[in-house]
Amino acid sequence: MKAVQATAFGDPSVLTPVELPDPAPGPGQVTIDVSHATVGLIDVYLRQGLFKDRPGLARPPYVPGLEVAGTVRALGEGVDGLAVGEKVVAMAGDGTGGYASVFRSDHRRVVSTEGHALDPALAAAAVPNAVMAHIALTRAISLAEGERVLVHGALGAFAAAFPGIARQLGAARIVGTVRAGRLAQAAATPLPYDEIVDSGDLAGALGDEKFDVVVDPVGGALRTRSLDLLAPSGRLLLVGNASGEWDHTLPSNALWYGNTVVAGFNAGGYVPAHPEAVPEAARAALRAASAGLLTTPVEVLPLAEAARAHEKLESHATTGRLLLAP
Ligand SMILES: NC(=O)c1ccc[n+]([C@@H]2O[C@H](COP(=O)([O-])OP(=O)(O)OC[C@H]3O[C@@H](n4cnc5c(N)ncnc54)[C@H](OP(=O)(O)O)[C@@H]3O)[C@@H](O)[C@H]2O)c1
Repeated sequence: MKAVQATAFGDPSVLTPVELPDPAPGPGQVTIDVSHATVGLIDVYLRQGLFKDRPGLARPPYVPGLEVAGTVRALGEGVDGLAVGEKVVAMAGDGTGGYASVFRSDHRRVVSTEGHALDPALAAAAVPNAVMAHIALTRAISLAEGERVLVHGALGAFAAAFPGIARQLGAARIVGTVRAGRLAQAAATPLPYDEIVDSGDLAGALGDEKFDVVVDPVGGALRTRSLDLLAPSGRLLLVGNASGEWDHTLPSNALWYGNTVVAGFNAGGYVPAHPEAVPEAARAALRAASAGLLTTPVEVLPLAEAARAHEKLESHATTGRLLLAP
């Protein structure tokens, strides 16, 4: 199969096109002929070696890539409910394997998209992240109907899944924040935000408005500022650190003053421990995608240009969810 390997920890130039043997499915596994593989910041962190000391995470040489869309190529022993040729999306458990023409997955992380008229590029871009957003909003916190939700980094790959799922769960108002340079793009987004405001001028844009839930994949100073945006007993849902401010801390006394709940969600840890969470979240994600609630621009590059995709992501030069096509 065609693949791209990270041959060492380092800059994007370590991403090297290679030919590898086709993987075969073991018991409980499925192989997929990949049409699109997603590129996300987690791929960048793994390639940089940021998590190299965490047990169970990839070490070079490895094939990066967390999520794919494609068609079922072969079924391993004991897998039922899926058929060869069926259109699917899949998520990796360990963040690897996606940058390839064939992807092997545990069948519990494979979601059939048959019967949903979904463009495969959008399916890869949106459905796995929406599955995670649903699990985060229903299990890490319990979003209730009528609540007000704020999403930071509103157009980012993972963030983009939250407004549609929050809308589906009955949120009354959904506001996004972006940095000033993304405001024009925000004005044109089809994502179901009620409003997207400048994260550099929250007071000016939001006045005294408060939110029951703040979804934060950005971190850093914006995370601290979020505490003032929460209604009493509000929940701050931490799902990433796109700012790169890894040493950032929250003032803990502000949490009990505000009756604030801080919850963390990380799919890589949650889903392998709770595979039973996936089917309901997958049904919700597919309904949301079919209803147009997850529609977001995508940018597709050839698989061999994985290094260029990482450069674009790291230099904030993306205009939509980045995908690789083998
Ligand atoms: N918890 C989970 O299960 C999970 C799943 C997927 C991803 N993640 C995490 O979520 C984060 C985002 O990943 P992604 O793949 O969605 O990346 P992405 O597509 O690059 O999105 C990141 C977003 O954050 C914005 N941003 C970056 N630095 C910022 C700053 N200092 N202040 C304000 N906004 C800033 C970016 O805006 P610009 O483009 O304008 O810079 C972009 O919209 C990463 O930390 C990733 O590890 C977590």
